[in-house]
Amino acid sequence: MKMIAGCSQLKPVVLVLILNLCFYASYQLNELQVCELCSGAVLNGTAVGHFCSSSAGRIDGRCCLRHDNTGDPEHIIGLDLSNCSLTHVEDLHGASKALMIDLSLNPIVNISDTAFQGFTELNYLFLPQHIVCPGGNTSWEKVDIKQGIRLCEGQKDMCNQTGQLSINCPENSLCAPYGPSFFECSCAVNFHGYKCLREGEFPSLLVFGPLGAFTVVVSFLLWATQRRKVKSQ
Ligand SMILES: *[C@@H]1O[C@H](CO)[C@@H](O)[C@H](O)[C@H]1NC(C)=O
Ligand SMILES: *[C@@H]1O[C@H](CO)[C@@H](O)[C@H](O)[C@H]1NC(C)=O
Ligand SMILES: *[C@@H]1O[C@H](CO)[C@@H](O)[C@H](O)[C@H]1NC(C)=O
Ligand SMILES: *[C@@H]1O[C@H](CO)[C@@H](O)[C@H](O)[C@H]1NC(C)=O
Ligand SMILES: *[C@@H]1O[C@H](CO)[C@@H](O)[C@H](O)[C@H]1NC(C)=O
Repeated sequence: MKMIAGCSQLKPVVLVLILNLCFYASYQLNELQVCELCSGAVLNGTAVGHFCSSSAGRIDGRCCLRHDNTGDPEHIIGLDLSNCSLTHVEDLHGASKALMIDLSLNPIVNISDTAFQGFTELNYLFLPQHIVCPGGNTSWEKVDIKQGIRLCEGQKDMCNQTGQLSINCPENSLCAPYGPSFFECSCAVNFHGYKCLREGEFPSLLVFGPLGAFTVVVSFLLWATQRRKVKSQ
């Protein structure tokens, strides 16, 4: 009985690994899907076009891609979805490292507050005039309206002291910007637990990425189903 249980416990581990691999493969694919949201490619005369040629990027569909260091994978630094009949902006997270995003000349109805959560590099966002900058004017250094286009420029740092102990975050934690109007708190070295109140070594990452969270959920589900199976035997 014990042997059988030990054997069946091997399988979930393998399954979790395979699921994680699939999850990451689809994640990589998704990143570039945002470049195909509209037909055509970034045009030379546009803001993203200028930005791309001046930053030595490579145009792929509606994206400008670049790698920061040779050897690093390319990522999206500019995204031009202007003039392509978008009414809703859903998932742009493939472009979460972009410095410039152009959504102007679209009949966009509204954009959710969290659409740009995690877009820490975003410094130029072009929107249709009637759409307010994410987080409001106070989340940006400068807001300008010209020819029906709203430009949100210079994302403000919600911590205002990146990497230092901040009043926004609980004691013993570090504040870091996390997109317009957002910030993120993570426990300082040697602190962990709820509100970072416990002191001592913590062996793993404090902020679980999608991989970690996914593994935890799947492992739990497998554990729960396996347990039920063992019980019913
Ligand atoms: C954009 O400009 C570059 C150089 O300025 C040129 O080589 C390229 O052909 C242009 N692309 C288009 C689509 O006009
Ligand atoms: C927007 O796209 C339409 C058709 O695709 C084109 O005729 C028009 O000139 C474009 N407008 C701008 C401002 O680029
Ligand atoms: C957009 O507005 C509609 C109606 O005003 C609302 O039902 C919907 O939830 C809004 N969508 C977002 C993403 O905010
Ligand atoms: C935000 O800035 C724009 C452009 O400067 C201005 O037209 C608008 O009234 C401002 N909105 C608020 C709520 O202050
Ligand atoms: C922090 O905020 C103060 C007051 O708002 C401002 O003068 C200062 O430039 C800000 N510092 C940074 C690094 O943003």
